Amino acid sequence: MRSEHERLAPIDILRHEHALVERVIAAMERETRTARERGRVNGAAVRQMIDFAQGFTDGCHHLKEERLLFARLRQRDASTEAPTRALEHEHESGRSFVRSLVEHLPAAQAEDARASRTVIDALTAYAELLRGHIAKEDAVLFPMAERLLEESDAEFLTHEFEQVEREETGAGVHEKYEALAHEISGEAFGEAESHAHAGDDRHPSDLAR
Ligand SMILES: [Fe+2]
Repeated sequence: MRSEHERLAPIDILRHEHALVERVIAAMERETRTARERGRVNGAAVRQMIDFAQGFTDGCHHLKEERLLFARLRQRDASTEAPTRALEHEHESGRSFVRSLVEHLPAAQAEDARASRTVIDALTAYAELLRGHIAKEDAVLFPMAERLLEESDAEFLTHEFEQVEREETGAGVHEKYEALAHEISGEAFGEAESHAHAGDDRHPSDLAR
């Protein structure tokens, strides 16, 4: 058990990834507003958002959480089982929204009105889900992880995160998606990052709310 509010390097990596995902969420929210006004979607922009969702949010970030962080937390404290399963369930809901985007975008780009509505609705729901999901992880899960995990866990996670980047995500792919997040959000790469704040100190059951 660690002292309160002591930050851990691997958790800061995940916080940084959340800040990137939030840039893309903001762009999704802008796109859905514009698309509703126009009655059609910007196909090229949505395609980039799908690429980011599959390649980074899922292929890099959620992979690290599910396979490594959540698993290690469950080993340390059995009470984290239910809340981390709930977070995994939200990851799965996000994947189903992305599948819907992939399925309906071609028809939406061909000006099919029903497909356009489906894409706008799926993008709206996905952005809303991810915003709430990230807020819960930042405010509850990460401070809890920083209390429960030991220094040896931090070393293990840092090492395994690097392994995921090398072997699963692929060399240079993280950087590609970092640049893409800035491109999607319409901001020049290299601008000041909006760092996630250190969260408060809540109970695992708060995650289920
Ligand atoms: Fe996350």
